[in-house]
Amino acid sequence: MIIGVPAEIKTNENRVALTPAGALELSKRGHQVFVQHNAGINSGFVDEAYQQQGATILPTIEDVYAKAEMIIKVKEPIASEYSLVKENQLLFTYFHFASHEPLTQAMIKSKAVCLAYETVELPDRSLPLLIPMSEVAGRMAIQEGAKFLEKPEGGRGVLLGGVPGVEPANVLILGGGVVGTQAAKMAAGMGARVILMDVNLNRLRYLADVMPLNVVTMFSNEVAIREHIKTSDLIVGAVLIPGAKAPNLITREMLKEMRPGTVLVDVAVDQGGCIETCKPTTHEDPIYVIDGVVHYCVANMPGAVPYTSTIALTNATLPYAIRLANMGWQKACQQDKALKLGLNVVHGKVVYAGVAEAFNLPYVPVDEVLGATA
Ligand SMILES: NC(=O)c1ccc[n+]([C@@H]2O[C@H](COP(=O)([O-])OP(=O)(O)OC[C@H]3O[C@@H](n4cnc5c(N)ncnc54)[C@H](O)[C@@H]3O)[C@@H](O)[C@H]2O)c1
Repeated sequence: MIIGVPAEIKTNENRVALTPAGALELSKRGHQVFVQHNAGINSGFVDEAYQQQGATILPTIEDVYAKAEMIIKVKEPIASEYSLVKENQLLFTYFHFASHEPLTQAMIKSKAVCLAYETVELPDRSLPLLIPMSEVAGRMAIQEGAKFLEKPEGGRGVLLGGVPGVEPANVLILGGGVVGTQAAKMAAGMGARVILMDVNLNRLRYLADVMPLNVVTMFSNEVAIREHIKTSDLIVGAVLIPGAKAPNLITREMLKEMRPGTVLVDVAVDQGGCIETCKPTTHEDPIYVIDGVVHYCVANMPGAVPYTSTIALTNATLPYAIRLANMGWQKACQQDKALKLGLNVVHGKVVYAGVAEAFNLPYVPVDEVLGATA
């Protein structure tokens, strides 16, 4: 198969969909890999590194789209790319269709095959192509929180781990899923006192077993949250209710209970945030202060660490990309139910119910475009 890797042109997107190691895995299986000039540069991968692993560099994004049977990307195509997408071309990337009608309409019109990373779903309902970014964001939440706890950054002037003779910081983490678990591990590793809250008792049982002793698990409810925000230095919002806006676990009125310089990192900002006063910020201007409380609400946290994020993402996407290239999308999706759930728009038809519902479009069951299924 001919595979194309365009450079990401969405603002502030520095990741790339394939590493040189991935290019080798594809080319040694007989596929041709075409990478746009400098596509990997912001993730630390120069053109020569791809060439050494069997890829060919093309000068422009138009060349890549024109050549490729399968496009592998990170972010959804932006408006200037819509006209480059060809009929029958397979696009494997994050789309987030349900929040973007013009994109949905453009991909319907293109008659391409759109396989979305975010809806590839394993039988246990986990989302294997979203997990790596949650892992990055969870770990980053503590790194960023620690930085903004410094006085010159607006924080309380507290060192997360304390020092001998001085107590460490108190970290409260709301949500013990992927983000919360990684955040708790980082905070605990730095020596903080960590409280990790969730509403899922089985999850709390597991976390209580695997976490170090400076992490205390606690059932999440309003009384417990109100009590612990008073003494927390850093609070991480990491809750998710699938398909719904995150609940407001910390209200505006609760900010007055906190000590000045407390730092809130609301990782759940992309689902509306679990802190009422949360509004999306960017890496250029990541924080704002309300009632003396520092809010960090960057919606694309992994974008700040493109080297790590690119490798973490491609570790997860490459096995699927190889299967798609080896078998073609129809056979690969027939044989792999997780991958089949990634199909959103195929040859002008919306085959993912949530996307059809979002824009009141006709829904076509995915099996109708796939033929015989596994
Ligand atoms: N800002 C970013 O750059 C970025 C990056 C990656 C992920 N995220 C977001 O982070 C959020 C968390 O993602 P995840 O992968 O950890 O999800 P997850 O599903 O693994 O975990 C969510 C956890 O929240 C718990 N929960 C639900 N209601 C709760 C409540 N009332 N109190 C406490 N816990 C509650 C659930 O039981 C679950 O364990 C999502 O909104 C995700 O989109 C943001």
